Amino acid sequence: MLENRRILLIVSGGIAAVKVPDLIRRLRERGASVRCVLTESGAQFVTPMSLAALSGDKVFQDLFSLTDESEMGHINLSREADIVVVAPATANIMAKMAYGLADDLATTALLATDKPVMIAPSMNVMMWEHAATQANLTTLQDRGVHIVGPGAGDMACGEVGDGRMAEVMDIVDALGEFFKSRIEHGPLSGHSALVTSGPTHEPIDPVRYIANRSSGKQGHAIAAALADLGAAVTLVSGPTQEIDPPGVKVIAVETADQMLAACTAAKPVNIAVCAAAVADWRVAESANSKIKKSDDGLPQLSLAENPDILATLAHAGKDRPRLVIGFAAETENVIDNGSAKRSAKNCDWVVANDVSAGFGGDENTVSLITQEAAESWPTLSKQAVAERLAARIADHMKNS
Ligand code: CTP
Repeated sequence: MLENRRILLIVSGGIAAVKVPDLIRRLRERGASVRCVLTESGAQFVTPMSLAALSGDKVFQDLFSLTDESEMGHINLSREADIVVVAPATANIMAKMAYGLADDLATTALLATDKPVMIAPSMNVMMWEHAATQANLTTLQDRGVHIVGPGAGDMACGEVGDGRMAEVMDIVDALGEFFKSRIEHGPLSGHSALVTSGPTHEPIDPVRYIANRSSGKQGHAIAAALADLGAAVTLVSGPTQEIDPPGVKVIAVETADQMLAACTAAKPVNIAVCAAAVADWRVAESANSKIKKSDDGLPQLSLAENPDILATLAHAGKDRPRLVIGFAAETENVIDNGSAKRSAKNCDWVVANDVSAGFGGDENTVSLITQEAAESWPTLSKQAVAERLAARIADHMKNS
């Protein structure tokens, strides 16, 4: 459940911060990536150096760091995660969260996040039982913050009672449970989805191929977003540098022919999203051995047309997916060209993207074209486009 999950771990200033290195180790053992934000008081208990070494990432501490702000602002920091975990969560940070204070990087990230938040409270028993803390706890619970612990036992301050931070493995288990339950109760649970992503590589000979600049970022993000809403997702991907999205069955292919075969084998599905930049042509007869330079002139390559995977899926008759979505990469007349492609390929929706600014970046400017309307979205991160599209798909499946 934690494989490839991105966890933003906020470490505030309690003695239980000494358990954080072990928490990071356990999360990473389970395949999660952990990025830490360390508060000023947290740094009294654990060093940024140890958190950086264990997480394998930079530790973020300063709200007004010029380098951090240019490389990774506090908004992105809190959004490029699947969940934000505060461990230990002191009475002080709980109070700030409850009141919406944002006076350092940790609290600013917590206020700016649109992701689920889990806290592991840790404090003296009297502080925990204080009416103010209990009122803050209720406020946070009412807002959907997940609480793990605290437990009872001996405390560093010598008193005994509630307020001890949950054990490391209890926090790990709570995170696993969170992701499991989100999938089981998600709006797409019970639905199956097929997503294509990345470029295809069409061989010229054993060492050369025809390809394009597709990164696979958008297709992979869509597969992840659908899986997060509970769909059983098969991702058929050409060669990319992207990591396999959590909870998704990934089938790696190289050529358009292989992609079509993998998609056909993945059916029946009720949702198909074709985000791959499939090469339109392949070399009609690729050479079995490396083509050598010769004095007889340049090699002649003749091309053959590749199968259109989107059109094939969208025309598939009785086992046609209920919702078929294609992409259209356009540099001009985005809506008109996208609409024409929607009809030509018989798909239900087209996500037309304006690629005049280039291919392969982290952001996308898209329009969602349906039979009824065309709707232009603002420029968003590819992850945000994926989440918005997945939410639209979930709405559609519920209402159709
Ligand atoms: N597609 C596909 N199989 C192909 C070619 C395209 O599944 N052989 C899908 C893509 O995944 C995408 C859509 O079709 O969903 C894009 O269609 P295409 O006609 O290739 O559009 P563009 O790439 O935008 O190319 P062009 O404007 O040159 O027609």
